[in-house]
Amino acid sequence: MLTAEPEAKAMAARAVARRWHAGELAFAFDVAMPDVPARPEAPQLLPPNAMPKRGRGGSERGRIALLHALCHIEFVAIDLALDAAGRFGAERGPGFVGDWLGVAADEAMHFALLARRLRTLGSAYGAMPAHDGLWDAARETAHDVAARLAVVPMVLEARGLDVTPITIERFEAAGDLRSARILQRILDDEIRHVRFGTSHFERVCEERDESPPQLWKALVERHFRGAIKPPFNDSARRKAGLSYELMAGVA
Ligand SMILES: [Fe+2]
Ligand SMILES: [Fe+2]
Repeated sequence: MLTAEPEAKAMAARAVARRWHAGELAFAFDVAMPDVPARPEAPQLLPPNAMPKRGRGGSERGRIALLHALCHIEFVAIDLALDAAGRFGAERGPGFVGDWLGVAADEAMHFALLARRLRTLGSAYGAMPAHDGLWDAARETAHDVAARLAVVPMVLEARGLDVTPITIERFEAAGDLRSARILQRILDDEIRHVRFGTSHFERVCEERDESPPQLWKALVERHFRGAIKPPFNDSARRKAGLSYELMAGVA
């Protein structure tokens, strides 16, 4: 998280996951997580309302801007996964750490695939401004693992499951099958990330003797300011363990 340079951060994330799964790292949590991870000089980070309009992805420029936005999301997702492992790993145990370090490695791969695609299209990660504020959810939920899981994987990453199929269709319609294939691979991985979120959340609920739908609803109302609205990708959400009952917030 202290590595700012994007390619180096992606490589470091994959290395820490590899070393954890090879049994080379101790289960020790004596270093505090940074409040904000190191950020590279580019992209310039702008508040959401100051972001230039991206268009609907019809033009090649519009599609490059969309890939850039997705690349930035993956870049921040590396730190979100590392932060979950480092901040809550001591209390949640080795299984939790392994799952989130695996997610960090996936996000690093997603970032690398999109960054390479941008270069092939004559652009690069950092060539355009990017959305500041993706770290807000981490800050907002740093005090409680249940809040973190309820908001980051179960709301934000789940939102990705809903919108990615539409984005894939848009790239296919434009004849950019290579970008579409990258997004399909990302979608498959993200189903697993949401499932990790859901299953760890349910485990926490069980230990606290809480009802998952009720606690999820309370935490999302408290810590997430956006709306959770359809259309939902029902089949992907079902595979990820996000049942209708859970999302409706009914006990
Ligand atoms: Fe990802
Ligand atoms: Fe993810």
